[in-house]
Amino acid sequence: MKDKPLFQDTAYLKNEQYKNSTNLDARATLHRRFRTAVTPWQQWVFDHLALQPGTAVLECGCGPGRLWRDNLERLPPGCQVTLTDLSAGMVAEATAALQNAGHSFYFQAADVQKLPFPDDSFDVVIANHMLYHVPDLTQGLREVRRVLRADGRFLAATNGQNHLQELWQIGLELWPGAVTPWQQLLSAEWTFPFQLEDGKEWLTVVFDHITRKQYEDSLAVTEAEPILDYLLSSSFALNNRPSPETITQVRQKVAQQIAQHGAFHITKDTGLFMAW
Ligand SMILES: C[S@@+](CC[C@H](N)C(=O)[O-])C[C@H]1O[C@@H](n2cnc3c(N)ncnc32)[C@H](O)[C@@H]1O
Repeated sequence: MKDKPLFQDTAYLKNEQYKNSTNLDARATLHRRFRTAVTPWQQWVFDHLALQPGTAVLECGCGPGRLWRDNLERLPPGCQVTLTDLSAGMVAEATAALQNAGHSFYFQAADVQKLPFPDDSFDVVIANHMLYHVPDLTQGLREVRRVLRADGRFLAATNGQNHLQELWQIGLELWPGAVTPWQQLLSAEWTFPFQLEDGKEWLTVVFDHITRKQYEDSLAVTEAEPILDYLLSSSFALNNRPSPETITQVRQKVAQQIAQHGAFHITKDTGLFMAW
């Protein structure tokens, strides 16, 4: 692909897709409400941070701060947590939710490719489902390494190529005849950078040790609307709104599958890398 795709277009990400948490929440809601895993995702990620009292943490691409909002009572005393995101709107939401939460949280709008912190500032850096948005990923990873202390750890969560296949299949029906990202994903014509399959190669450029963990989960969705909400929150959908008739037909089809099978089952392929 010659041009930078929309999902790596900084102005689009900052001003449209992630202007605030509305689109992200539509997708997170599907995962939160219909997961089969016992441990919720943000709790599973938090467990892998293995924070100790007094740890200095940086989150890149924090969104509205879910990782911390969902684990507040588990945060050890004395941790200093700096939340950053490209989008000022996301940082504002994280600030509103966490500034009076009784811990040392700091907030700043920042691009991971140019982090406004001195060398060796943090014990732990986390990038949770955001590295595939970074246009110059090697530069982003060099910045993470620079602000990490020599004995620091980096956690990077992402998806694999089998993630949400059944959802993309339904997505095809919302745009009959159009060349959609789902079509390209399903035919493996086009892939995101930094997936579970290629993440280790990227990390090897700046880290010596890398391990990978899989989050075992799938979705059993018992309502049609959250599936539509998910698909219609995507970058492609925001610029190519299907007709109301098409949306109604797809909604009915999903509802029929749920009535027939008890749920609409969706594969998940998600995990994280730990690097040091
Ligand atoms: C999929 S959301 C994930 C948000 C949050 N980590 C979570 O798991 O809920 C990706 C986030 O990365 C941010 N982002 C995208 N490109 C970025 C960059 N170059 N530097 C920092 N943040 C970026 C977006 O604004 C968005 O909030």
